[in-house]
Amino acid sequence: MSPIRGYVFDAYGTLFDVHSVIEAGRAITADPATLSATWRQKQLEYTWLRALMGAYVDFWEVTEAALQHTLRRLGLTPSAAQVRRLMDAYLSLACFPEVPAALERLAGSPRAVLSNGSPTMLAAAVASSGLAKYLDHVISVDPVRTYKPSPLVYALGPGTLGIPAGELLFVSSNGWDVAGAKAFGYQVAWCNRTDAPEEELGVRPDVVVRTLDQLPR
Ligand code: LAC
Repeated sequence: MSPIRGYVFDAYGTLFDVHSVIEAGRAITADPATLSATWRQKQLEYTWLRALMGAYVDFWEVTEAALQHTLRRLGLTPSAAQVRRLMDAYLSLACFPEVPAALERLAGSPRAVLSNGSPTMLAAAVASSGLAKYLDHVISVDPVRTYKPSPLVYALGPGTLGIPAGELLFVSSNGWDVAGAKAFGYQVAWCNRTDAPEEELGVRPDVVVRTLDQLPR
């Protein structure tokens, strides 16, 4: 790998544990894991579809629409207050346990988040997880009004940090996001937390780690 002059992190699933919404789902279903996984998958599908359709709405709206569809698909009929609690879980996500120390270890190089999340959602998650002091930039897709894996989104990293993509390490747990960042020109680390099989998208990560404390300096 070439020298790394800065780090760009995906947010949901990489820094923040999206499945902590499982707790909020317990009130409405005996199978909150299926609710959480279906909701997450549908949320991603809607970002890809809206990007292709050129029909951007922000990630809060996408997340809410994905939840409504998921509830219908699973035959769940929660109260408005229960739906609100599920959505609010997105504003108070936990980070994975190793993340604070892993980010602290990389101090000295700029550390940024680059995420589909809306600015409001990202600010809330960064605050609730206590990660603000380890991050130099929190970059949302919102100014370019499209979603990963659009090159317009990945260009925000080098644009904000003032460092070429090839000298940045992009870090994501999402295999498709790894492929998008690699195709754009970043050096890429895949944080394969779940022992997932590699995607078949014609590009491979430069390094694979299990948790973020294993990232190269
Ligand atoms: C994000 C999604 C892809 O944070 O996890 O951009």
